[in-house]
Amino acid sequence: MFEYNCLEVFNQTVLEQFIKMKNVVLIGFMGVGKGSVAREVIKHSNYIAIDTDDLIESMENRKIKNIFAQEGEEYFRSLEKSVAQWLEKSVKNTLISTGGGFYKQKNLKKIGIIVLLDSPFDAIMKRIKEHPNAEKKLKKRPLLSNLEEARKLYEARRPDYLKIADVVIDVTNKSALESAKELLKKVKKYA
Ligand code: S3P
Repeated sequence: MFEYNCLEVFNQTVLEQFIKMKNVVLIGFMGVGKGSVAREVIKHSNYIAIDTDDLIESMENRKIKNIFAQEGEEYFRSLEKSVAQWLEKSVKNTLISTGGGFYKQKNLKKIGIIVLLDSPFDAIMKRIKEHPNAEKKLKKRPLLSNLEEARKLYEARRPDYLKIADVVIDVTNKSALESAKELLKKVKKYA
């Protein structure tokens, strides 16, 4: 009886902790550092992390750049929609990093707390170019192949990113760890 009660109390505490943890959905432009911040968040919290682009690549068993090249952007967006529906129904207590265009999903707000990683376009490009894997980072993102087009896309998207975000983190000149700590502090009030 005593053992049973202990277990029950323990389970309840663990359960309560998890119920309190809503999903956090990381949005922001390509290259802003969603993956790096997600890795720091999981090191310093109970969150586990998943990434919408990784899910799509697994579903399709091919790279995003090949999906774009072989099927076109519209097909890729339809995959994002399927992932968004699955996330809403089936995922809890998770940090979800998303591709830069995922914020357009109609059910985004139902998935979790929306956190925007924000930075000016030139700072994002500088960040990518200074990365040891810069070439790979550019190659895997078809929508960054033309810099002027990418700038236009950034300018068109930024007001919408800001509109949909519950929390905004300016990541300019911050390490991923600093941004992750700020994120954990700011999402607390939504828990
Ligand atoms: C895209 C961003 C990419 C990836 C795809 C399209 C976009 O993800 O989903 O190439 O529309 O901005 P990252 O933001 O992780 O680069």
